[in-house]
Amino acid sequence: MIDRSTVDKIYAAANIVEVVSDFISLKKKGINYQACCPFHNEKTPSFVVSPAKGLFKCFGCGKGGNAVTFVMEHEGMSYVEALKYVAKKYGIEVQERELSPEEVRKNDDRESMMVVNSYAADWFRETLSGTDEGRNIGLSYFRERGFSDSTIEKFRLGYCPSAGDAFTQAALAAGYQEEFLIGTGLSGKRESDGRYYDRFFGRVMFPIHSVSGRVVAFGGRTLRTDKKVAKYVNSPESEIYHKSNVLYGLFFAKKAIGQEDNCILVEGYTDVISMHQSGVENVVASSGTSLTTEQIRLIGRFTRNVTVIYDGDSAGIHASLRGINMILREGMNVRVVPLPDGEDPDSFARSHSAAQVREYITSNEEDFIAFKTRSLLKESASGDPIKRAELISDIVASIAEVPDPIMRSLYTKETAAKMDMDFQLLTSEVARKRISHGSDEQTRNFIRNQQEQQRDERRRMENLSGLKGITAGSNMDELEKELVKYLIKYGHRNFKYKEGKSFVELNVAGIIIGDLEANGLTFRNPRYRALYDTYVELYNQRLAESEDETAEADNEIGLHYFINHPDPEVCNAAVDILTDSENYAVSKMWQKFDVVIENEIDKLAENVPRAVILYKSKAIESIIDSLQEQLKDENLPDDELLDITHRIAALNRERMSIARKLSRLIL
Ligand code: CTP
Ligand code: MN
Repeated sequence: MIDRSTVDKIYAAANIVEVVSDFISLKKKGINYQACCPFHNEKTPSFVVSPAKGLFKCFGCGKGGNAVTFVMEHEGMSYVEALKYVAKKYGIEVQERELSPEEVRKNDDRESMMVVNSYAADWFRETLSGTDEGRNIGLSYFRERGFSDSTIEKFRLGYCPSAGDAFTQAALAAGYQEEFLIGTGLSGKRESDGRYYDRFFGRVMFPIHSVSGRVVAFGGRTLRTDKKVAKYVNSPESEIYHKSNVLYGLFFAKKAIGQEDNCILVEGYTDVISMHQSGVENVVASSGTSLTTEQIRLIGRFTRNVTVIYDGDSAGIHASLRGINMILREGMNVRVVPLPDGEDPDSFARSHSAAQVREYITSNEEDFIAFKTRSLLKESASGDPIKRAELISDIVASIAEVPDPIMRSLYTKETAAKMDMDFQLLTSEVARKRISHGSDEQTRNFIRNQQEQQRDERRRMENLSGLKGITAGSNMDELEKELVKYLIKYGHRNFKYKEGKSFVELNVAGIIIGDLEANGLTFRNPRYRALYDTYVELYNQRLAESEDETAEADNEIGLHYFINHPDPEVCNAAVDILTDSENYAVSKMWQKFDVVIENEIDKLAENVPRAVILYKSKAIESIIDSLQEQLKDENLPDDELLDITHRIAALNRERMSIARKLSRLIL
């Protein structure tokens, strides 16, 4: 484990906005930041980050936590992995980080595979510039392609030697285990003689990074022109590499994508690299696979605008046609940029400056309707009525994918004008198309998206319906939650309580803890109990300390303590409670925060005693219920029967008195 002081250091350094921005792009909204939630599919942002409180919360799906638990959830990391990630980001040294072969073994599989990949990337990089073969073959190839040294360094390009098992032998000698070398696909073992071989031997290497910058896979390009050899060999699917979820270059592009609010989609590794080198950095490629819905959603976390640049050849056109419908289906905006014949983004970027590339894009990009009209008509004689009908039906199919009815109507209008058709007729064609493919996979997805959106909307409406507040009808769970909320938000505060004719000064934590302990009551809900116990422990500690020192010792146990608690369970429960009690419409989330706090503080004198009493009365009721249950036992000895009856009577008296107090408080 990582020692406590390092953990504290990590939490102190972690800026939630910076950490979350590594994975999605946030938009500032008042004092907070907003985005579409990365944990569920949505089109209107319900995900909020509060830098002041150091927490994130999705008001759609309910996920919430701190910087570290965000990384855990988002990257599927363990708590320790997430801590290490944040530590690394802020240059905090974690003792455990030095990985001996022994420690490598102890780490879990995923981590081990990442470590092996990272070692491999370094080794390939080293081989590229540090060996004769690397320099003569690999490096000179990259130079020929116009890649600068800093580009090679940035993308960690490398070379795997042609001697069949050089890498595997080096890795084994360095203490990396066969299991993970084979698991990542870096190495293989021949069935016939049990000898190892390098998957990528004799290839230049392109490491593939996750959104957070870890090497999850490789693409290796052969330098042979022999058509029988596959041009690229990629890492196989594994625990850490699901190729449909990864975009090549996203780690390097995400910042620029956020800034430009646009993502350029190209086909290959070298396209991405050359564009970067020319200075256009918001570029990614769906490498090793044709574009997937997951990849589009990944882009959707950073921007809703995609620009597809494709090679002028027919294969390029058809690949982008397919991609267009998928992007539209996700409710994103897509524009297309055709390149001059014979050029791909790689060659084009190499022969033009960043300004020229940008200028070319702005003056040549077109929406999908213009693109389809032009490219499909070009393929056929434009006068042919059958071809024309096919084209219209093709465009109608695309428009039918667009989830937003307003956008759909705009596209329909544009098509009607371009194709010189009746708008109403076209509108009904689109509607019919939407109904007719009601049974296919795509539309099911579409309908599911809409349902999710409706669910989000409903949740938001529920949140809107104002402070729910607790009532005599609330159940134990709600009451426990309410008490914990007062403890962690206002435990340190005092309020004036009217007792008879005079006022007494009471402390929120004092009242709640005192009353519960006096009655021997403990929370049932494990999450709330964990929070309560944590609070009480600290509270007692502070009390003991303040006896030694001056009477004015500050016994505030801040929100901060719970939000950044090293136990993720405690953190999550705290964030839930904090955000749940602030029921706002998404657009106004937390803008009203201060107002609500004021209200809550004003009402402490009213609400805290009320919550305590309601809780006590419910708790007593449930104890009475269970005692009455015991009475049903026919074999109960007489003395116990008497005892239980007495206890029930006493509890009932208590309950009556509570009820009287309550009526005073509530009326
Ligand atoms: N690709 C692949 N496997 C292949 C061929 C291609 O995974 N056998 C993927 C690679 O991600 C590649 C992309 O498809 O980058 C585009 O292929 P291509 O245009 O053939 O390669 P380029 O990236 O343009 O490479 P180069 O310019 O070196 O020919
Ligand atoms: Mn190319």
